[in-house]
Amino acid sequence: MSGYLVDDARKVTTHRLIEMKQQGKKIAMLTAYDYTMAQIVDQAGMDIILVGDSASNVMAGNFTTLPISVEQMIYHAKSVVRGVKRSLVVCDMPFGSYQVGRTEGVTNAIRIMKESHADALKLEGGVEILDTVRAILDAGIPVMGHLGLMPQSINKFGTYAVRAKEQAEADKLLSDAHALEEAGCFAIVLEKIPAELCQRVCQELTIPVIGIGAGPADGQVLVAHDMLGMNKDFSPKFLRRYADLFTIMTDAIGQYINDVKTEDFPNENERY
Ligand code: KIV
Repeated sequence: MSGYLVDDARKVTTHRLIEMKQQGKKIAMLTAYDYTMAQIVDQAGMDIILVGDSASNVMAGNFTTLPISVEQMIYHAKSVVRGVKRSLVVCDMPFGSYQVGRTEGVTNAIRIMKESHADALKLEGGVEILDTVRAILDAGIPVMGHLGLMPQSINKFGTYAVRAKEQAEADKLLSDAHALEEAGCFAIVLEKIPAELCQRVCQELTIPVIGIGAGPADGQVLVAHDMLGMNKDFSPKFLRRYADLFTIMTDAIGQYINDVKTEDFPNENERY
């Protein structure tokens, strides 16, 4: 295993993640939607790879996460699983696949697990979806919760602004987090909420809390294409860019175009 700061080459399990929280070890999580990227992220030593429904934006160019289907999520998750040896692979249940009711939710959850071979599923929501979360857990499927800014509810929220700044929403988030833990979720993502509230959830819950735009937590998650600088037009305050791949890739591609047009490529050594 060639990963950074990886002290254990075994496959990451939900149980190990809970141990990591107990031992005060931070959890790193990043998205991937395809085989090649999954190999890179896994071999770098990532603890969790999220096959996020952000694939709808990042891979398909949709404005929101809503249009992506169960079939498309299975396609992405299957491709990711083929590239992963160590990371825990979590797949998002897409909008519409679990909100109607528990029977449909469990049926879709089982289908995604059977066809993608992912290790776990992530669902957005609190008490409203608790029956479905319980039924999915009862079917033997590990569930990661997702509270705070829930992109599948963007049409209800009307904005991607920070959530739970008001006391009533903060109280609901706290009780939703407890309800998800009591139901048996192995971890929770908290997206774009005040750092103080995230800290409180981390302290009160025994399961790991993974933050995005929520300040320090038991772990952090980012969208790979954002942190690698593959798009120029998304730069929220919480995002740290670790590379400018957009520039690196356009420069390389521009160089190739130039070499083709000037007949520099292929040269003597690049032919049979
Ligand atoms: O779909 C996604 O990428 C996510 C992360 C932003 C947590 O849910």
